[in-house]
Amino acid sequence: MKKGPFSFTLDTANFIPSYFDNHIQRHLSQMKGQYLDQEAYQEKLSQSDDLLYEVYELKRPEVAGEILHGISIVHPGKVGREYYMTKGHFHTVLDTAEIYYTLKGQGYMVMETPEGDWAVEKLKAGSVLYVPPRWAHRSINVDPEEDLVMFFAYPGNAGHDYGTIETQGFRKLVLDADGEPEIVDNPRWNPPENE
Ligand code: PA5
Ligand code: NI
Repeated sequence: MKKGPFSFTLDTANFIPSYFDNHIQRHLSQMKGQYLDQEAYQEKLSQSDDLLYEVYELKRPEVAGEILHGISIVHPGKVGREYYMTKGHFHTVLDTAEIYYTLKGQGYMVMETPEGDWAVEKLKAGSVLYVPPRWAHRSINVDPEEDLVMFFAYPGNAGHDYGTIETQGFRKLVLDADGEPEIVDNPRWNPPENE
């Protein structure tokens, strides 16, 4: 982790930062139970444990005044009709927001709140997305060939709650319908007990 002010650059071809503290790589095997078509998931996994997405993180102390940031890269591909996507999460401290600046590619951010609101926002090079406090978020790459690359920033104390999404899923899915992305209800969405 850097001490004091610092800067880094993003290379123009693939936006990998010239400096980072962590490089997270998530493979198909780490997305168990997340894809709608579980047969297609098993079939694909039996062939190879593909790399779905990567995160280059600049580490900061996990306190409210800090801003955690980095680059996320979702590779192109599909499991059945569902595009490669991140696990998605609520922030552990629910009242924390996040900003995403799309640098390359095209996709969607699927979002929802514990109160039942949902939203799906388009991501394309040059767009800035504000994810307000309380909104879980998952990024999805809908381009058949290109990476979806984004710069993200969020409060240092936010934390990641993956468990809620792992057990209940997102209310909405984005599926490939004959070459066009389609937003559909998630038939496997598993509402929390108090709803
Ligand atoms: O904090 C964020 O929202 C991002 O940096 C994500 O961590 C990144 O996009 C990877 O997604 P996830 O953490 O859901 O695996
Ligand atoms: Ni987040």
